[in-house]
Amino acid sequence: MSAAQVTFLFADGLGRTETAPAGERLTEVAERAGLLLLMDCSAGQCGTCVAHLVSGTVVLEDYDRAVLPDSDRLDGMILTCVARTQGSCVVEFSYDSVDASADPAPAFPGRVIACEPVADEIWTLRLQVDAPFEFLPGQYVRLRPEIDAPWRSYSMANAPGESELTFYVRIVPGGAFSTWLTERARPGAIVDIDGPRGVFFLRDEPRPRLFVAGGSGLAPFLSMLKASRPGAKHGPTTLLVGARSGAHLFAAEDLRAAQAADPDLVVRRFVERGDRSDCEAGFPTAGLTAGAVDPAARVYVCGPPPMVDAAREAVERAGLSRSDLLFERFS
Ligand SMILES: Cc1cc2nc3c(=O)[nH]c(=O)nc-3n(C[C@H](O)[C@H](O)[C@H](O)COP(=O)(O)OP(=O)(O)OC[C@H]3O[C@@H](n4cnc5c(N)ncnc54)[C@H](O)[C@@H]3O)c2cc1C
Ligand code: FES
Repeated sequence: MSAAQVTFLFADGLGRTETAPAGERLTEVAERAGLLLLMDCSAGQCGTCVAHLVSGTVVLEDYDRAVLPDSDRLDGMILTCVARTQGSCVVEFSYDSVDASADPAPAFPGRVIACEPVADEIWTLRLQVDAPFEFLPGQYVRLRPEIDAPWRSYSMANAPGESELTFYVRIVPGGAFSTWLTERARPGAIVDIDGPRGVFFLRDEPRPRLFVAGGSGLAPFLSMLKASRPGAKHGPTTLLVGARSGAHLFAAEDLRAAQAADPDLVVRRFVERGDRSDCEAGFPTAGLTAGAVDPAARVYVCGPPPMVDAAREAVERAGLSRSDLLFERFS
C-alpha cells in the first residue's frame, strides 16, 4: 500500500507531519513523530482520545457508540486510539502540543522467564522485572518484544507488587506479538514494558462483584482475585468464565487457590463445544439472567468485543445501569 502524510494539529497552532503506510494505527504514527497523545483505555471505551478529523479518512476499529455517538462521527470526530490511516489525513486535537510532548514514563525491561502454551490457543508469558511492580488489579501494560515491533497491550494476571509478571496471551494467527511469542520468544529475552495503564481495575467498595470473562479476558480477573485479601469488605464474588472448549480453559490452579482463599467465591465455567462435567454449555453471558444478577452488584466484563457487547446488553436487561458496569475489550 502507498505511504500517506498524517498531520497532527494542536490547539496552540503547532503541527507535526509524519509519513505512514495506509492501515497503520494513528497512535503508532504519532509515536514515531515523537508525540504522546492523551489516552487512557486505548480501546475505544473512554473517549479520552477524541479528536477532529479535519480532512482525509480513517478507519475506526471497534469502539463504544456511547463514547462516540454516530452523530459525532458524522461531524468528523474520531477516537484516535482505534483509528487506522487510509491515506493522507489531518487530525486536530483540542489540547496544546506541549501536552502531547511530555516525556512518557520510561519503558522498563522485563526478562522472559517462561513462555509456553497452557491451553488451546493460550500461551503464558512470565517476565522478571528489577523491582516490585505496583498497579491496580485489572490494569494492563504495553509490551514491545523487539525494538522495531509494535506495542501490544496485555493485562497482568499476577497480584500487584510482585517482581514476576504473568500474562496470558490468546494466540492470533499472523498477529505480530502472537508470532513473536510462539516462534521467537526464549527465556532470557528482554521485553520493553510500558505502564501500568487503564481504568478497568477492581473498585474498593462493599458491593457484590460479578466477573464475566471470555477467553484470555480471564487474565485481569486472576489479578483481582489474587489482590483480594481475606476479610476484605466486599460482597460475595461470582466469576463466569467462558471458553471455546474445555481444552481452552486455563489457570485452573489459580482458580482453585482463589476458591480456597475465599469460600464465598462462586466460579461457573461455560464452554461453547464439547462435554465437560464441570462446565455448563454456551457462553458465560448465559449466566446473566435477570434472577441471577444481584441488583447491588458491580459487574466487570472482559474479553473479545462480541462477548463484551452481549454481556453488557444482558446486564442492562437484568436491570443494572451503565454505571454499574466496567468492561474492557481485548480488541
Ligand atoms: C487494554 C487491553 C488489554 C489486553 N489484554 C490482553 C490479554 O491480557 N491477553 C490477550 O490475549 N490479549 C489482550 N489484549 C489484546 C492484545 O493487545 C492484542 O490485540 C492481541 O494479542 C493481538 O496482538 P497480535 O500482535 O498478536 O496481533 P496483531 O498484529 O494486532 O494482529 C491482529 C489481527 O490482525 C491481523 N493482521 C495483522 N497484520 C495484518 C496485516 N498487515 N494485514 C491484514 N491483517 C493483519 C492478524 O492476522 C490478526 O488476525 C488486550 C487488548 C487491550 C486493548
Ligand atoms: S483512549 Fe481512546 S477511547 Fe479511551
